[in-house]
Order: sequence, then structure tokens, then C-alpha cells
Amino acid sequence: MQAVRFHSYGGNEVLTLETIKEPTPGPLEVVVKVAGTSFNPLDAAIRTGILREFMPVELPFTPGVDVAGTVTALGEHVTGWNIGDAVIAYLSPPANGAAAEYAAVPAALLASAPKTVPLADAAALPAVGLTAHQALFEHLDLQAGERILINGAGGGVGGYAVQLANRAGASVTATASPRSTERVRSYGPDRIIDHTERAVTEALAGERFDKVLQLVRSTPEETAALAALTADGGVFASATTPGPQDLGRGVRMEQVYVRSDAKRLTDLVTLVDAGELRIDVAERLPLDALAAVHDRAFAGGLLGKTVLIP
Ligand SMILES: NC(=O)c1ccc[n+]([C@@H]2O[C@H](COP(=O)([O-])OP(=O)(O)OC[C@H]3O[C@@H](n4cnc5c(N)ncnc54)[C@H](OP(=O)(O)O)[C@@H]3O)[C@@H](O)[C@H]2O)c1
Repeated sequence: MQAVRFHSYGGNEVLTLETIKEPTPGPLEVVVKVAGTSFNPLDAAIRTGILREFMPVELPFTPGVDVAGTVTALGEHVTGWNIGDAVIAYLSPPANGAAAEYAAVPAALLASAPKTVPLADAAALPAVGLTAHQALFEHLDLQAGERILINGAGGGVGGYAVQLANRAGASVTATASPRSTERVRSYGPDRIIDHTERAVTEALAGERFDKVLQLVRSTPEETAALAALTADGGVFASATTPGPQDLGRGVRMEQVYVRSDAKRLTDLVTLVDAGELRIDVAERLPLDALAAVHDRAFAGGLLGKTVLIP
């Protein structure tokens, strides 16, 4: 089968499309014929090696933490899944990813794929959908009626975060640049701040939010300035640069590290099929475009989710 792999950490040039043996399922694993994987900044971070201390992977490694596809083989002791099932999963490292024609996936990570979107497009949900859900409801404990600021709503996580926060009855202020404004508006926030016009902290000076979600890589000083917009007794959660350890004023500081959660992913799929959560795919590209996608991501050139199709 064809698979993208890297044999050493490095720039996007280490990603090569190779012909390798198809995986066989180990105990408690299934093999999935990949319909799609999607690019996540985490894939690039793993590739560069900056995460090797606390997220080590075995080289050569196949990137692609998201998978959508069809089960083609069952390992020993797998129950509840059958050959032919359409599934999705977030493949947490050190498991190999899904930038390949087939992927071996721990059965415990699987959720049934949504039925209302093309299977490949469903690869745009797992990692970012879970991050958004865990950030909003585990870290921020978001409640109806609360004011939340979502910084970085133009991205994959942000798009789901705005939809889920809106659905939860929060009052949502989202930041987005003009290229993403229309899409973010369609997710129903109360207000959109253009972060290219002036600094978000300047645009919102004097305001406070019950909950603040940081989805943009920034300097510690910028993150501290954003965290200062959190109301007394509120919660600040970052999926990127950590905020100050103690902001005072009773503000709780949280750091988000997404984890696989098949049950929660199944809940998100239910929302998708009920028409209450939209999966938006900006681009669908062949697998051999993956190195170029990593390159464009580095340059800030991706708009929302990019799906790679073997
Ligand atoms: N800790 C975790 O577990 C975890 C999990 C998932 C993701 N992450 C991290 O969270 C971040 C977002 O992930 P993602 O998948 O959503 O990435 P993404 O799809 O690449 O989105 C990033 C978005 O941020 C927006 N942006 C860029 N600069 C901005 C600024 N100065 N102010 C406001 N928005 C800005 C851009 O949208 P516009 O310019 O169009 O507005 C861009 O599309 C990444 O850094 C990722 O590594 C962490």
C-alpha cells in the first residue's frame, strides 16, 4: 500500500510517499481502509521533533492523527465492530497515523462515522472536534448564558468551538480574519472581532468574559494580555501557549491536551447527523500533497480543515 512516512524528524521534506506492507490488526485493533485523514498542526509538530520528549514516536512514522474509513479486518478480542463498518477516530501518538491507504487502529478509539457527510470529510472532525468539546465542557465548564471569548475561531478547533458554545446557549465573541469571517458567522456567534484590524486585546479593552479560550499560538505576554480579559472568578483555557500560572482575581487557568474519547466522539457524530454540528472542509487533496500541505500550514496558508484522500 501507499503511505506517507518520515524516517527522521525535520522539515516537510522528510515526508515521503512510500510503498509499504499493509498493516495487520494486533489484538484489540482493527484495520481501516482510509477514506480520508485531515491535517492538524499536531502532525507538523510531531514531524519536526519538538514534541519528542513527551510524545515520542517510533521512526519511521506515518502522520495523520485523524482517520475516517471502513473496517477491513478485525484483530483478536475485538467486539462491537464488523468488517464494512464506517468509522472515525483520533489516533493519539505514539500510534501511527492515517496518511496511508490502510491504518491499524485500536478498536477502543473508534466511533461510527456520521451518515450525513461523505466518509472522507468525516476525517475533519475527530481531533479538532474533541479538542473543542474537551476545552469548552471539561476545562471551561461552559454554561448557558455565560460570555465566552474564542480566540482563533477561524481554525479547525475554533469552528467547532463556536458551534458547540453557541449550541450550549453561551454568548460567543469570536475572533477571525476577513478570509474566515463568513464561515465563522455561519456558526452563529454573537460577535466577530477581526484580529487583523488591531490586537484583540485592544479591540476588547475594558471588557471581561466569564470564559476565554485561546487557540492561537502567541508569546507568553500576548497570552497573559488575553487572559486578563477573563472576568473575576472565570476560567481561561489555552490549547496553545500557557497563560500565567496565577492571574489572581479567582481566575482558574487551564491547559488543554486533547485525548482520544470514543464516547464523546460518538456524541459529536450524533450532533452532526442531527444537523446540529457542521463539518466544513476547505480542501480535499490527494495524499501525495501532504508535504505541500505541511508547508502551507507553516506559512499560515490553510483555511480551516484540509482533508487528504489516499
Ligand atoms: N493542546 C491541544 O490538545 C491542541 C489540540 C488541537 C489543536 N491545538 C492547537 O490549537 C491551535 C489551533 O488548532 P487548529 O487545528 O484550529 O489550527 P488551524 O486550523 O491551523 O487554525 C488556526 C487559525 O487561527 C487563526 N489565527 C491565526 N492568527 C490569529 C490571531 N493572531 N488571532 C486570532 N486568530 C488567528 C487563523 O484563522 P484566520 O486568520 O482566518 O482568522 C487560523 O486559521 C494550534 O496551535 C494547534 O496546534 C492544540
